[in-house]
Amino acid sequence: MKKDFLSIADLTQDEIFEIFDLTRDLKQKTRNREPHPILQGYTLAMIFAKPSARTRISFETGMFQLGGHALYLSPQDIGIGKREAVKDIARVISRYNDMIMARLFDHADIEELAEYASVPVINGLTDYNHPCQIMADAFTILEHRGTLENLKIVYIGDGNNVAHSWINFAYRVPIHLVISTPRDYQPDPATLQRAREAGLSTIELISDPVEAVRDADVVYTDVWASMGQEDEAEIRKQIFKPYQVNQELLAHTRKDVLVMHCLPAHRGEEITDEVLDGPHSIVFDEAENRLHVQKAIMVKLAGKA
Ligand code: CP
Ligand code: NVA
Repeated sequence: MKKDFLSIADLTQDEIFEIFDLTRDLKQKTRNREPHPILQGYTLAMIFAKPSARTRISFETGMFQLGGHALYLSPQDIGIGKREAVKDIARVISRYNDMIMARLFDHADIEELAEYASVPVINGLTDYNHPCQIMADAFTILEHRGTLENLKIVYIGDGNNVAHSWINFAYRVPIHLVISTPRDYQPDPATLQRAREAGLSTIELISDPVEAVRDADVVYTDVWASMGQEDEAEIRKQIFKPYQVNQELLAHTRKDVLVMHCLPAHRGEEITDEVLDGPHSIVFDEAENRLHVQKAIMVKLAGKA
């Protein structure tokens, strides 16, 4: 494995499935309350420049369950890149802690953090991507369907960090990925091009949401305005309206469609209550699997599996 986990593109296909195997094992142990202090004595510094529920809770809980300790450093604590240069923080934390998880705005900042840190750095979301999330999501689909092959996975909404991580997953693992966004909100062309050139997956951009979700096995959505885009929320609500995941849209999917959302959801905007709380929704399985998959990632990065 590379020293850091900044993108799913950092992993080989074999490493991705090794992480999933370890995830299955750690999930079982956690469910059985079987102790697994694989990272006893380890400490994880968690740097947050943006808010979080799942990422903070799952990393902190996960590190505790692995026998280690995690420190929560809020936006006020470090002021990364503001109070202190990214490269200095990287070198200081490397003297105290065994691993860093960071949620930052600019992806270039996490790359700099990783470059200057001597310890592994895990990306807990940047404006560009959200790799831990999509590892948990793909694992969740595997649990429900037993395979990722021959499934049509449709991401609908904004071509954002979550969409980029799905494309990076498709770069490494063969899937049929459809991305449906308004024309001005498509994902990063370079990310798309790299994944398409790798030739493993079928990746389609289909702007019409009804056409996009036809016969879908999985429909995935995310907020229309991400953290940091609050000023655009109102205008985006108008533009993205046709992309709402609601009962009418699901009429065009396969009958056994799985509905996913990384959460937090803006109920009544990108997804209706009826769908989020309905029988097709697996959003809380997804949320739980953040814990298990991130534990596996930490164990792998520590070289303990
Ligand atoms: N899905 C996710 O990363 O949630 P948080 O922003 O609450 O961490
Ligand atoms: N795209 C969202 C994901 C939150 C987990 C955001 O960046 O705010």
